[in-house]
Amino acid sequence: MEYTTLGRTGLRVSVAGLGCGGPSRLGMRGDAGAEDHAVGLIKQALDLGVNFLDTAQNYGTEGVVGKAIAGRPRDQVVISTKITLPKPADADPAAAIFAGVEKSLKLLGTDYIDIYHLHGVEPKDYEFAQSHLIEPMRRLKEQGKIRFIGVTEGFVVDTAHTMLEDSLKKNLWDVVMVGFSLLNPSARKNIFPLTRPTGVGVLDMFAVRRALSQPKRLQEMCAELVAKGALAKDAIDVDDPLGFLLKETDAKTLPEAAYRFCRHENGVDVVLTGTGNADHLKENIAAITKPPLPQAALAKLAKLFGELDSLTGN
Ligand SMILES: NC(=O)c1ccc[n+]([C@@H]2O[C@H](COP(=O)([O-])OP(=O)(O)OC[C@H]3O[C@@H](n4cnc5c(N)ncnc54)[C@H](OP(=O)(O)O)[C@@H]3O)[C@@H](O)[C@H]2O)c1
Repeated sequence: MEYTTLGRTGLRVSVAGLGCGGPSRLGMRGDAGAEDHAVGLIKQALDLGVNFLDTAQNYGTEGVVGKAIAGRPRDQVVISTKITLPKPADADPAAAIFAGVEKSLKLLGTDYIDIYHLHGVEPKDYEFAQSHLIEPMRRLKEQGKIRFIGVTEGFVVDTAHTMLEDSLKKNLWDVVMVGFSLLNPSARKNIFPLTRPTGVGVLDMFAVRRALSQPKRLQEMCAELVAKGALAKDAIDVDDPLGFLLKETDAKTLPEAAYRFCRHENGVDVVLTGTGNADHLKENIAAITKPPLPQAALAKLAKLFGELDSLTGN
């Protein structure tokens, strides 16, 4: 495993982080009985050198994280979790945040959270978050219940990062979680130039998702782009759109190429990988610690997707 410093937080973190949400939720989506398997996956990740675990109140995986880290020295793991946004109609949104953190601390079996995020702040939530939610987060930091304040964007509806771009200019966060992948590298233009000089830590989500793990979904997505005129018909082989990555580089699979692409981006600190499959976990951690893709392949990717900011890979 390789380790890096998460911006100005100073936290030493593994470059691969285990995502305990996403489509897999460690194998627990749709199968809440899969807890033992999930605990085993987290322990496997820790044994492979991963020290960064990302969970959330609404994933239902804080409890398995707590079980997996029980008995390990607390300072050897960096815990990132998230509060589901209270509704603007809530009588006391600050109280909802204080109650939420207590629940998370209990499930995680710890007395502090390293990074506590507002979860999935969409542009429509942004004004409310600024006026009602930042202050209670700052209070939690003063109390030592959380060490750093983070935010995750609502990437599915905000694929061009408008909330993050504005809020980074206002210096609201210690850490941000951004959607960045070879299909939508737009954070390179409007997010990393803001985080790098200020030392805001960057966590990368959506590196793979469906489009880069399911060939049929990738074909459909590229066919849609061609139909919309966003990709020229002769620019891409719609039957095998990213086949060149496997023919012209040493990447063995598309997920491998996708994680490597993200890992070596100047601006990304931790690449999150989400899986319910122990073999995938091993492969993904290996991928994230492999060298960059060759320049020629990166140039082809930039030509195809470099200017697009609409894709999520879902
Ligand atoms: N707004 C937010 O706050 C937000 C939103 C999304 C994600 N996140 C965080 O980011 C983390 C990462 O996102 P993600 O979970 O969507 O991860 P991801 O790594 O981009 O994609 C996960 C998907 O790819 C599949 N996959 C992974 N490795 C594979 C491999 N080697 N071969 C084939 N398929 C593979 C997984 O299925 P298998 O289970 O079959 O491997 C799963 O369907 C989440 O877990 C969560 O912690 C946060």
